[in-house]
Amino acid sequence: MTTADPTTTPQNEALFLLGPGGPFVVRPTPMPTPGAGELVVRVRAIAVNPVDAITGPLRRLVSPWVRFPTVLGSDVAGEVVAVGPDVTDLRVGDRVTAFAAGQEKARNRASEGGFQRYVTVLERVTTRLPADVAFDRAAVLPLALATAAAGLYETDQLGLPVPTVGAARADEVVLVWGASTSVGMNAVQLARASSYTVVATAGRANHDLVRSLGAETVVDYRDADVDRQVVAALGGRRLVGTVAIGKGSLGHALRIARSTPGTKRIASAYPDPVTSVRSRIERLRGVHVTAIWGGTPVVSPVGPAVFRDFLPAALADGRFRPAPEPTVVGHGLEALPTALQTLRNGVSATKVVVGMDA
Ligand SMILES: NC(=O)c1ccc[n+]([C@@H]2O[C@H](COP(=O)([O-])OP(=O)(O)OC[C@H]3O[C@@H](n4cnc5c(N)ncnc54)[C@H](OP(=O)(O)O)[C@@H]3O)[C@@H](O)[C@H]2O)c1
Repeated sequence: MTTADPTTTPQNEALFLLGPGGPFVVRPTPMPTPGAGELVVRVRAIAVNPVDAITGPLRRLVSPWVRFPTVLGSDVAGEVVAVGPDVTDLRVGDRVTAFAAGQEKARNRASEGGFQRYVTVLERVTTRLPADVAFDRAAVLPLALATAAAGLYETDQLGLPVPTVGAARADEVVLVWGASTSVGMNAVQLARASSYTVVATAGRANHDLVRSLGAETVVDYRDADVDRQVVAALGGRRLVGTVAIGKGSLGHALRIARSTPGTKRIASAYPDPVTSVRSRIERLRGVHVTAIWGGTPVVSPVGPAVFRDFLPAALADGRFRPAPEPTVVGHGLEALPTALQTLRNGVSATKVVVGMDA
């Protein structure tokens, strides 16, 4: 193991969730030691996600394997302070953003939860940051990026090719329903990087933003004739798949898939209890519906393909932009419950972030 400065002994602390319904408590916790393929990151910014904001019995339903007390949080940005064996690309001192995988079934460890000062992360889902990308902007990326990548690239989802230089697929379209969500903004940019044309839906106030990320056409998902507008925007081109995000998105995606030429594959990010029932029925009609699990890239080849092979260069040359913009609601672990409440109250085209510099 390589560490930043053996003469200092930094103290770690984490925001523990004591049970499915709370409460949250900030407590000291051991300084982590990285294992094979792992890094320890001094956290400088944390973003919160809808899955962190769940309370009560639904939390047990979403991640029944989690043992309490636990440490939530998937999105961190900061500096590498220690590297374990078999870490190949990253070094102590690198500025990174990483998917903290503590809540994933395959990891399931409090030391890998993002809501702490020093967190263990996996190199395979960590991205080195260019100097001009601030930590609070970078922290918006990991889970939304991983979820979009899972939907687009995992073989059992849309199964599209990861971003490649020189591919031309402009006559093939990816539909991103809910493109002004954090997941959607990443899906738009990834689909463009994979050389597809993107048709999208978003609230009207966010149309320019979604277009600036690369969507060719954006339609308001609240319009009564939104399905007709989307089909018109496809203009008879081949729909290679839909990433369906947000309440009601699956119904729209199914109607559109049925009335357009293409593969009829829909990757749904909305955790709707009827998705699995519906997917079985739709399979008989030739429409392939799958539920996305945003943590899949933590263990699949899609993780390193996106976090390590694509994103560092794409951020550096401006092909990929951390989106949405962060809204920093406070500083320190104590600010995280407020951040979660801000998210529960509803956001539009922004990611709620807590700074960790104080
Ligand atoms: N399956 C997974 O593993 C996984 C992982 C991450 C997230 N998710 C889910 O994906 C969804 C998005 O998460 P996020 O963090 O990206 O959300 P977010 O950034 O917090 O989403 C905010 C945006 O949602 C949009 N929105 C609200 N209702 C919508 C609807 N009915 N249809 C389309 N867009 C709608 C709003 O758009 P306007 O302001 O433009 O109206 C708003 O900008 C959530 O349901 C979340 O639970 C799933």
